[in-house]
Amino acid sequence: MILLNATSLSHAFDYPLFEDISLTLNAGESMAIVGVSGSGKSTLLHILSSLLRPNSGKVELFENDIYTLNDSALVQLRRSDLGLIYQSHYLFKGFSAYENLEVASILARQSIDEHLLKRLGIENVIRQKVTELSGGQQQRVSIARVLSKKPRLIFADEPTGNLDRVTALEVMDIFEDYLRENRAGMVLVTHDESLASRCTYIYRMQNGTLKRA
Ligand SMILES: Nc1ncnc2c1ncn2[C@@H]1O[C@H](COP(=O)(O)OP(=O)(O)OP(=O)(O)O)[C@@H](O)[C@H]1O
Ligand SMILES: [Mg+2]
Repeated sequence: MILLNATSLSHAFDYPLFEDISLTLNAGESMAIVGVSGSGKSTLLHILSSLLRPNSGKVELFENDIYTLNDSALVQLRRSDLGLIYQSHYLFKGFSAYENLEVASILARQSIDEHLLKRLGIENVIRQKVTELSGGQQQRVSIARVLSKKPRLIFADEPTGNLDRVTALEVMDIFEDYLRENRAGMVLVTHDESLASRCTYIYRMQNGTLKRA
């Protein structure tokens, strides 16, 4: 099953950012995107995950051309099939960590995985308000929230950026187990070459294009 297929993507903001990017990801595979700050990695991730429309090119998710889907079909696809972990975590600030997980699990009709909370080392802080958690704890809550949805495809933008080495490696183990157990896919943007090397493919964003490394 092809989870993601992008064809000839080009995008510019004030100046051309990248041109003619094509890629494919199959079930069970992961792809790392590396490259210097400002090269357009997050922008590409936003395009691949349906949040930003490129100047030109085509994005297919689960073999559907997303620009031909109607709004409600696209919302449904995002809600049930995509797991988005972005650089700034969009947790509901007034709620506890647990309430944030509940919202996601109710929307996706999945139960909260207590074992996952333990592996992420957040089982003891889960009743606290999001604003009372450290940056790294918030990051782990947002990872738990996304995996609780049981997405078929994960988009993660530096998900371990706020974490120490040991915790970052544990988070990568959790992602790998998740992909294997669920035949899911992941696109991972990271500055960490050792995490990138654990993915099925590594791509580098450089000089306005994406090349297999
Ligand atoms: N919404 C926007 N409007 C205008 N310019 C933007 C917008 N989003 C990003 N850019 C510009 O596009 C370029 C690429 O940004 P992007 O966030 O994709 O880089 P990145 O590779 O993810 O960098 P980093 O590693 O620092 O996260 C930057 O110069 C940025 O200023
Ligand atoms: Mg970025």
